[in-house]
Amino acid sequence: MNTVLSLSFFLLVSFFTEPVSPFSHQDHYTKSSYLSLHRHHGPQEYSEVTYPLPSGPSCSHLILRHSFAHTIDSPPFSTPYIPPSHCPSPWSRVLLHFHADCKGEQYDRIAGLWLGGVELLRTSTAEPTKDGIFWNVWKDVTKYSSLFTRSDLDLTMMLENVINHEFTGIYHVTITLSLFKSHAVVGAPIGVSCDRRLRILRDESDGGISEVTVERDDLGDTNVLRGSLDLDESPADLIIPISDDGDRGFWFRVERESDLHSRRIRIPTNTHRAVLELYVSFHGNDEFWYSNPPNSYIKTNGLSTRRGNGAYREVYVTIDGEVVGSEIPFPVIFTGGINPLFWEPIVAIGAFSLPSYDIDLTPYLGKILDGKTHRFGIGVTRGISFWLVNANLHLWLDHHSEVVHAERILNKSPEVTIERQEEFTGLDGSFDVDSERETKVAGWVRSSAGNFTTIIWQEYKSKNYIKFQHNGTYKLVKQKIKAKKKMKVINSRGQVVVLLKVKRKYPLRVITWTKPSLHKHRYLLVTNVTHALKEEHSGACFSNSVSNKQDSNGWMEVKGHSVLSGEAVTSQNYTYNDRFNCYSRNVAAANGWIIEDKSTFQCEE
Ligand SMILES: *[C@@H]1O[C@H](CO)[C@@H](O)[C@H](O)[C@H]1NC(C)=O
Ligand SMILES: *[C@@H]1O[C@H](CO)[C@@H](O)[C@H](O)[C@H]1NC(C)=O
Ligand SMILES: *[C@@H]1O[C@H](CO)[C@@H](O)[C@H](O)[C@H]1NC(C)=O
Ligand SMILES: *[C@@H]1O[C@H](CO)[C@@H](O)[C@H](O)[C@H]1NC(C)=O
Repeated sequence: MNTVLSLSFFLLVSFFTEPVSPFSHQDHYTKSSYLSLHRHHGPQEYSEVTYPLPSGPSCSHLILRHSFAHTIDSPPFSTPYIPPSHCPSPWSRVLLHFHADCKGEQYDRIAGLWLGGVELLRTSTAEPTKDGIFWNVWKDVTKYSSLFTRSDLDLTMMLENVINHEFTGIYHVTITLSLFKSHAVVGAPIGVSCDRRLRILRDESDGGISEVTVERDDLGDTNVLRGSLDLDESPADLIIPISDDGDRGFWFRVERESDLHSRRIRIPTNTHRAVLELYVSFHGNDEFWYSNPPNSYIKTNGLSTRRGNGAYREVYVTIDGEVVGSEIPFPVIFTGGINPLFWEPIVAIGAFSLPSYDIDLTPYLGKILDGKTHRFGIGVTRGISFWLVNANLHLWLDHHSEVVHAERILNKSPEVTIERQEEFTGLDGSFDVDSERETKVAGWVRSSAGNFTTIIWQEYKSKNYIKFQHNGTYKLVKQKIKAKKKMKVINSRGQVVVLLKVKRKYPLRVITWTKPSLHKHRYLLVTNVTHALKEEHSGACFSNSVSNKQDSNGWMEVKGHSVLSGEAVTSQNYTYNDRFNCYSRNVAAANGWIIEDKSTFQCEE
């Protein structure tokens, strides 16, 4: 993702030096010159492969229409939000539909959409062509339902773009909400009584007076990566942003490891459940953080690149200075990244709807239910310029009591081990970073529904390996991240009333090989990318899994930031399974065209 700063840095480098290693250029390109030579047809549709969102009768409400031209260094676009009063409430499901089109030459750009400072969508743009492109993103935003009825909020979108003699692409964006009346109209399967009452939190033995029923429907896992225990199943009563003030977008900008951005927040004293949803994207020198070598390699070889600090990053959250959760983010590749020819017309996993990460803070409620303000902070371990991070704090309130009591009873402070190994001679060598983290925390919450103890256990394992060969012109990156989370809720009789498990894996393999071109001031890059996102959710009586994998091979000839020629093939397989539904789609694209596309709701088994 480029800003003007990194752009000018890049132009300097590429005009005055001949590329010899993967370090003398950015991993970020535009492809308009190439495509205008090779294609003459109308606007092309781009897309990200996900679970198809349910359709059916719904009420549609336009919330934003704006063109993002030369918006760099300007405040974000902001407009009063008007609730969909013409749509009969209550709504059981709300989908956000983002549509964009663009024509000309342009880099990919990062964008955020916030309602009252609460982030609804983090997205990045596809790079346009001279004939134009367009794309649609659908996202299930039911979890933000409490905001959609409010008339005192502003809707804000930040998309920093540059228009000049060279970059001409203006992004035209339209955003609508689709509101659905009940589960039935959107095609929920029937006969799943067990799944529909996953959580019945009523503890009569304990004098509990209210029943808290959290229903889940089985419409499939509509987000690329939920990372969530069960946030999507019952919208929170209140969502508080942990974000910047909005003059430059609501995200905090993290430029270095010591940047811990924070906000003082007071939560209602009758909160009985809290989940923090973290939004993250990485740019500039950390856009490809998973491929950054240690500083020792850069220094010893006298390289000018600032893309260093090793290949380990972790985004963490603090309350009053205490770390309460962390995530190693899924490596989203933007559409100009590594080889832009890979990401047309099918973009990389998560590029149009970046994953957010849920951190259940219920066991920590005892710390923050005192009616006072507390400092919530977000930082990036080993981060360099720059990361855009902010969070939404989802709170569920006790409607029968003003005060809820809570206390943490266990906090096995996170055990982190990080092992590093490096070995290099000149520009060739290899680097390993392995890390592991285990956390266990438990706390009870006594509300009018009873006294429930929440136990959360989380484990991370990550391995990163980088190898340089052929005098640094060949670079291999292999990364494996595995995360496991388990949540248990126990009533006062010691019975387990909720059991949820989430497992995630996201392997990544990137090869880039820089070769000389026959033409002056040009070079060839041979590139391979394989990455995947695999996720499994299971509970007492449900389970589902998503597997999403992309494999891309190709090469390109580059001059400056422009791709002049090349060939690329991307193949993607997506499957979703639960006890009642399945979906699979196999797509392949070659040189900008879909060459295969098979999808089915009929899975063998
Ligand atoms: C709630 O349950 C926990 C664990 O059983 C117990 O230690 C705590 O005292 C209870 N709290 C209240 C207010 O009853
Ligand atoms: C390796 O690369 C360096 C700098 O990029 C260059 O000075 C050197 O001549 C190269 N060595 C060989 C053997 O090609
Ligand atoms: C990229 O992958 C293809 C097919 O898997 C393979 O033939 C090729 O050698 C790979 N390229 C590099 C630079 O490793
Ligand atoms: C997807 O499946 C097809 C057919 O089984 C296979 O040829 C292809 O390599 C797979 N692609 C990925 C990215 O796994």
